[in-house]
Amino acid sequence: MVKMKISKSTAKTEIVSKGVLYRIAGPVVVAKNLAARMYDVVRVGNEKLMGEVIQIDGDKVVIQVYEDTSGIKPGEPVFNTGKPLSVALGPGLLTSIYDGIQRPLPVLEKQMGNYILRGVDAPGLPMNKKWKFTATAKVGAKVEGGDILGEVEETEGFTHKVMVPPNLSGKLVSLKSGTYTVDEEIGKLDNGAKLQLMHYWPVRKPRKMRKKLSPTIPLQTGQRIFDTLFPLAKGGVAAIPGPFGAGKTVSQQQLAKWCDAEIIVYIGCGERGNEMTEVLTEFPHMKDPKSGRPLMNRTVLIANTSNMPVAAREASVYTGITIAEYYRDMGYDVALMADSTSRWAEAMREISSRLEEMPGEEGYPAYLSTRLAEFYERAGIGIPLGTEKTGSISVIGAVSPPGGDFSEPVTQNTLRVVKTFWALDAKLAQRRHFPSINWLTSYSLYHEALAPWYKENVAEDWPEVIKQLMIILQQEEKLLEIVQLVGSDALPDKEQLTLEVARLIREFILQQNAFHEIDTFCAIEKSYRLMTLVLKYNEQCQNALAKGTRVKTILELKAKDKIAEAKFTKDWKQWLESVEKDIEKEFTHLHAQ
Ligand SMILES: Nc1ncnc2c1ncn2[C@@H]1O[C@H](COP(=O)(O)OP(=O)(O)O)[C@@H](O)[C@H]1O
Ligand SMILES: [Mg+2]
Repeated sequence: MVKMKISKSTAKTEIVSKGVLYRIAGPVVVAKNLAARMYDVVRVGNEKLMGEVIQIDGDKVVIQVYEDTSGIKPGEPVFNTGKPLSVALGPGLLTSIYDGIQRPLPVLEKQMGNYILRGVDAPGLPMNKKWKFTATAKVGAKVEGGDILGEVEETEGFTHKVMVPPNLSGKLVSLKSGTYTVDEEIGKLDNGAKLQLMHYWPVRKPRKMRKKLSPTIPLQTGQRIFDTLFPLAKGGVAAIPGPFGAGKTVSQQQLAKWCDAEIIVYIGCGERGNEMTEVLTEFPHMKDPKSGRPLMNRTVLIANTSNMPVAAREASVYTGITIAEYYRDMGYDVALMADSTSRWAEAMREISSRLEEMPGEEGYPAYLSTRLAEFYERAGIGIPLGTEKTGSISVIGAVSPPGGDFSEPVTQNTLRVVKTFWALDAKLAQRRHFPSINWLTSYSLYHEALAPWYKENVAEDWPEVIKQLMIILQQEEKLLEIVQLVGSDALPDKEQLTLEVARLIREFILQQNAFHEIDTFCAIEKSYRLMTLVLKYNEQCQNALAKGTRVKTILELKAKDKIAEAKFTKDWKQWLESVEKDIEKEFTHLHAQ
């Protein structure tokens, strides 16, 4: 058995009081005679398993334990550290792979093999690594929380801003550039507070911003359906619900890879071990398409498979969002993906049932909706504390409703708080329409707020183009119902054309192959061009019809099919120009006849 290593970083394992174990129920244990406050981190049993106080009931202290509790017995000691569950924030977060309580998985694996041994303590940041720190703040200056003291190149090309921790302020009496480990003194305040490259922050406490702003800039994703019909704002919140196999993980990974956030926090939460293994093995090999460097250089990965303890899974979401807030505070745009929030909710449900709390809907605790709302509320764009800067956190939560039934509590409570809803649809996945986002049930409440950006940066008529596309897709839905009853030949000519144009929209615009080297990413400009070309074709069709051309003849025209090829071509601009000309020629030819 591995003995607990009290490492340098774990001054937090100092002990302030001691009690005794009284009862054990899976991940939840009860201690007696332990002086403790809510959310204190404790060490449970002879093996000193890590846990957190989640309820105090007279002389009984209820603790959720982040590690497997089998084998521990009543009578064993419980130690209180007197500190809340915190993460270490500083250089070295990027490229890390953590469990739900910020223990580096590769280190854990080395120490414990297959996550079997317990009570292992490993610091969240590399404690021995030396970082080159360049001071930018001036000695003698008055500083407060969030002010930038200097910089460290955390990974190649990425500047980590070293800040005054949120709860400190004073006059800077010393600060020196140099080479430091994360807990060495880099400077001092006049009140004696020691400054270092890192600080701790309790995960359940949001890091405040000076001012929240309304989102007005899209998070560009390179995924056509997201960027066009259902955009997400930088600092916005989205949910992506769908049954097993509908494309949640692929979508989340596409976002991680392609969205224009500077930092990615990816929480793999409670999905099956093999799915998580895929993420763990794939991410370290993924290249950041923009820089050509490893994607991990700007990523923090948090992984909790379904076979890891539920309490750590419950904590993982808070660990992730706290790290995201830290980079936002430096003035960066962060995107956080949680896959899947349903497994997080299930962890809450399991702990709640062990606590014998009154169950709410489908056994979830009554506070499910509050917890979900509080989590998504930590997203946003705004001005962080200290030195003037803007930062954002966009949150995209996957939801896996059992059987794909969106009426269940996690989906419903999520719907209430998110503003972009990307509804995955098993039927579309079966038809191999990817990404299987249902365009009729999905929505974005950011259209209006983002319209000025799109008008200024893409095209004045952007909102109109999107509207027209949606109208055609909605018409298609109605027409298809009629077709089912009476067949397409019975439709008036105009409607037959609408069906054809809707098909082009679905196949040329909405469908996008995540695994094709070019189609995997689509610039917004390219999406716009595809949309306008299809709409132009639509207009030409309706004109031809008005001039008396038979619908059959119009439908036989072939040039429009070549639009699709643009998705897979580097020279899409040239390609679309020539297709546009070809389409025009066909129509001119028609009218000449
Ligand atoms: N955008 C996409 N492009 C191509 N294939 C996709 C796409 N999205 C999903 N798929 C296919 O669907 C499969 C299941 O997707 P996945 O994201 O693992 O589902 P989920 O996480 O919802 O269970 C993938 O392995 C892939 O073959
Ligand atoms: Mg998945």
